Amino acid sequence: MSDAPLHTLYDEVGGMATFETLVRRFYDGVQQDPVLWPMYPADDLDGAIWRLSRFLGQYFGGPATYSSMRGHPRLRMRHVEFHVNPDARDRWLAHMSAALDTMGFSPMVRSSMDAYFDRAAHAMVNTFEPTPEQ
Ligand code: HEM
Repeated sequence: MSDAPLHTLYDEVGGMATFETLVRRFYDGVQQDPVLWPMYPADDLDGAIWRLSRFLGQYFGGPATYSSMRGHPRLRMRHVEFHVNPDARDRWLAHMSAALDTMGFSPMVRSSMDAYFDRAAHAMVNTFEPTPEQ
């Protein structure tokens, strides 16, 4: 065993400030999206930014702030109220990918994040019905 401190992806990318930047850029894209944006709380964008950035920071090895404030993530359950069909999933992934493109992450970090987001977004699909008319 070495005495080296445990090294997490969270530390490697620069901690919570980096996750907040990523999530803000993600939401910049989501706000332009006619299918996704109507699902989000327009009057609580700062809250949504807080929730997703804390969740991701925690997932990638940072402090468990998300769980201490929001409880167990239970993400699939928390998404049941939203109409997450394959189109919504692909749009979500495209906005996340565009945000990731701006971050200058190393190829190792980028591929870890891509793999996680792809898996998580596929797991969040809860309907194959087309997007309802707004
Ligand atoms: C697949 C397409 C997805 C759609 C359409 C979607 C949609 C939403 C919406 C509308 C919210 C409510 C915003 C808020 O008030 O915080 C939300 C919350 C959230 N989403 Fe997603 N989401 C998707 C995928 C994902 C994925 C892949 C992750 C994780 C990597 C994720 C993590 C979260 C988290 C952590 C919250 C906050 C939960 C809470 O504490 O209430 N979502 N999502």
